[in-house]
Amino acid sequence: MGPRSEYADKGAPPGGVASARFASVSFLGAADAYDRFMGRYSVLLAPQLADFARVASGQRVLDVGCGPGALTTELVRRLRADLVSAVDPSETFVAATRDRHPGVDVRVASAEQLPFADKTFDGVLAQLVVHFMADPREGLSEMVRVIRPGGVVAACVWDHAGGQAPLSLFWDVARELDPEVEDESQRAGAREGDLTRLFHAAGLREIEETALTVSLEHPSFDDWWEPFTLGVGPAGSYTAALDATQQAQLRERCQETLPAAPFVLPAQAWAARGIR
Ligand SMILES: C[S@@+](CC[C@H](N)C(=O)[O-])C[C@H]1O[C@@H](n2cnc3c(N)ncnc32)[C@H](O)[C@@H]1O
Repeated sequence: MGPRSEYADKGAPPGGVASARFASVSFLGAADAYDRFMGRYSVLLAPQLADFARVASGQRVLDVGCGPGALTTELVRRLRADLVSAVDPSETFVAATRDRHPGVDVRVASAEQLPFADKTFDGVLAQLVVHFMADPREGLSEMVRVIRPGGVVAACVWDHAGGQAPLSLFWDVARELDPEVEDESQRAGAREGDLTRLFHAAGLREIEETALTVSLEHPSFDDWWEPFTLGVGPAGSYTAALDATQQAQLRERCQETLPAAPFVLPAQAWAARGIR
C-alpha cells in the first residue's frame, strides 16, 4: 500500500463511527479547500521559511509534504522549476502541485521514505509537516540522508502549544465546549525547542530555531469560519464530525470570542534549520 496522508486522505473513523472527540482526518482537503483553509496562512509563511533556509539561486531543493504547493510556489519563484522537487503522501495534493508547477518533479511519497538517492539536494524543507509525520524522527533522518554535506534542512510548525497558531482560538473554544477534545498542541514540533531536539537527534549541526510570524486580515467572521466547514485537517474533521447543534454552538462561541470584523489574526510558527 502506498503512503497515506493523515492530513488529506480519509481513513475510516475509529470503530466506523464519526466521533467528535476522535474524528478521523478527512479527505475533503482537496487543493482548493486547503487553499481556503490553511493555504491562506501557509503562503505567507513560505517566503519566510525559504529565507530562513537560505534558499538561493542555483540550488536543488526538496519540498517535503508540499500539499497543494504553497512552499513549492515560492521555491519555483526563487529557483528554476527543474531544480525543485516535491513530495506528499496525498495523491490529490500531488496532482494539484504538478498541475500548478509543470517542470517540478512532484511525487507521491512520505518523509519517512523519500524516493531519492543520498546527497541529492542542497536544501530540504518541510513547512507545517513535521507534526503530521507518522514518525518525525525517521522523517527528519530521511531528510538528512537526501541532503549533501553542508546543505540545509529547515522545517516549521505552528506554535500550537503556545496558543499562537492560526487555529488556536478554534481549539480553545472547542475545548471550552468539550474538555476532552484532542487538539494539535501535543504534536511533534508544536512547542518551542521541539524542532531543535528533533534536528539534534537527526545528527544536524549549527542548529538555529526562530519564530516566524504572519498576520492575515479577515474581512468578516464567515470568511474566517467557513473554511473550517470544508473538512480540511484535524480542525476540519473535528467540525465535520459534530452534529448541527454542536456545530452551531461552536460557530457562535468562536464569533463571540473573536474581535468584531474586520480583524487581523496574527500567528506564529517555530522554525528550525540545521546543516548536514
Ligand atoms: C498543513 S499541510 C502543509 C502543506 C504545505 N507544506 C503548506 O505549507 O501549505 C501538511 C501536509 O503534510 C502532508 N503529510 C502528512 N504526513 C506526511 C508525511 N509523513 N510525510 C510527508 N508529508 C506528510 C499532508 O498530506 C499535507 O499535505
